[in-house]
Amino acid sequence: MFMPLFQMVDGSNTVDSEQLGHLSFLIKGLEVVGIELSLMTILIVMLTFFSIKGIMKFFESYNKVLYQQYFMKKIRISNINNLANFSYDNFVKSDSGKIQNTFSGEVLKVSKAYNSYFTAVQYGVLVVVYVFLAFLSNPEFAILVTIGGLITNLIFKGLYSKTKKISKQLTLQNHTFQGLLIQKVGFFKYLKASGLITNYAKKLKSNINEIENSQRKMGFISSLLQAVREPLVILVVVVVILIQVELFSENLGLIILSLLFLYRSLTFVMAMQKYWNDFLTNSGSLENMTNFTRELETGKEKHGKIAFQKFINKISLKGVSYSYDDTQILKEINLDISKNEIVAIVGESGSGKTTLINLLSGLQTPSTGQVIIDDYNLNELNTHTYQNRTGYITQEPVIFNDTIFNNVTFWDKKNDFNLIRFYSALKRASIDTFVKTQPNQEDELLGNNGINISGGQKQRLSIARELYKEVDILFMDEATSALDSETEKAIQENIDTLKGELTIIIIAHRLSTIRNADRIVMLNNGRIEHVGSFEDLRSASPNFKRIVELQGI
Ligand SMILES: Nc1ncnc2c1ncn2[C@@H]1O[C@H](COP(=O)(O)OP(=O)(O)OP(=O)(O)O)[C@@H](O)[C@H]1O
Ligand SMILES: [Mg+2]
Repeated sequence: MFMPLFQMVDGSNTVDSEQLGHLSFLIKGLEVVGIELSLMTILIVMLTFFSIKGIMKFFESYNKVLYQQYFMKKIRISNINNLANFSYDNFVKSDSGKIQNTFSGEVLKVSKAYNSYFTAVQYGVLVVVYVFLAFLSNPEFAILVTIGGLITNLIFKGLYSKTKKISKQLTLQNHTFQGLLIQKVGFFKYLKASGLITNYAKKLKSNINEIENSQRKMGFISSLLQAVREPLVILVVVVVILIQVELFSENLGLIILSLLFLYRSLTFVMAMQKYWNDFLTNSGSLENMTNFTRELETGKEKHGKIAFQKFINKISLKGVSYSYDDTQILKEINLDISKNEIVAIVGESGSGKTTLINLLSGLQTPSTGQVIIDDYNLNELNTHTYQNRTGYITQEPVIFNDTIFNNVTFWDKKNDFNLIRFYSALKRASIDTFVKTQPNQEDELLGNNGINISGGQKQRLSIARELYKEVDILFMDEATSALDSETEKAIQENIDTLKGELTIIIIAHRLSTIRNADRIVMLNNGRIEHVGSFEDLRSASPNFKRIVELQGI
């Protein structure tokens, strides 16, 4: 662009400013501000021009990054909020690989899809403008080229739909990959110990191969499109020129003029097609994200409006039944639990014990009947406020990969006041001595899912977490796996120390742990068979008596 200017200052060549085309404003501008055209001024102008261009380029690309990041953050945050409000009933039916993948890789792909879509639209507008200009200079020619262009698009259409299909397939394959990976990490110990880790790796590898295969197919189509695009467009122009010259004996000069506009428009057509294909490459992710968001929104937990303050009096189950699809799990349960009572739930595996405490904790809602907390039906309460006052120790205690302090306080501030609360919670859960003997005491790291501590310690730390939270009601689902006698004793002691302080509803597999419970509820096939003290049940329930004898109590 600057060449003609150099020619102008070089005396041997005379170039008039007309030849500068678009740049002639530069000379006029310089004349207006009284700057003489010399090598120096041209060099300065050139440097300034490109510096400004550089600055603009910076803002353009930085802005793009900002918008993209903002957009991705928005999607992620909205998904995280939606997931937090997703009901447990729906969560158990969902696919963890899908959740993981949609939250991570898919977000970037969605953002890319939007980017390519809008760029394609941008080029689309330019195409229309230039076709319009070509149309003004030579309507016949422009129409013929447009028809030719549309025909080539039909050829591309097949390839586009293939890209779209593979993109969808790729998203599903990535879900599977993430799902397999989560399980590999989660079940690492078992896979390693059982030697099944190599078999499992085969599964992952075959999934990786499938992903690579889809990517390759997509790459093939995209390369094909890129290669075919230009020759095809030129073919259209050649055919149209021939038709015009041979059939309509058109003037070649006129054709060339509109060809200039068409040339521009055709380059834009090619760019538009490229971005459209890029969009389709990620369209599977877009569809997945839309469906995922819809799934989370429709599966939202239903909340009542009343904020729960404090548990005062009693919990009542009134004619509660629960079914998974067509199978009734709990049948007509009627039970009252008073404040600070310890109620144990026992029964065979699959009799509905976990389901029962899920209903009491507001995790699941009864199919029929009511759960009444003091004066409120649980479904009138805002479940979050209720769950803030209740603790839940799941069948597999939850330990985060962090320090003991953070695990118990749930990342509370570490100040003197909280440290006192922390140690008091540890003491009540009978785990203070263990923590004090650790090299880093409360700052000791626990590893993935508490890999560095024993099953019983995990359980006691989980109890400490609930006690630190200051709950009114504690739900405990004792691990099914046989507890060692030390842990069994510790749990029994824990329960005994907490007696009278908290309302505890505990599912017990080892009956020795609940010897001192106020009442024991015997579940049989989803129905309450007996309710009473340990001794009451021993004489009233043959089932209970049998288990007591089996466990040698
Ligand atoms: N998400 C689910 N979908 C369908 N059925 C389920 C689901 N969860 C549990 N069940 C069924 O509900 C029944 C009761 O399960 P629950 O977990 O309450 O038993 P449990 O008494 O706690 O058993 P365990 O002592 O083995 O822990 C079982 O038959 C189980 O198969
Ligand atoms: Mg259970």
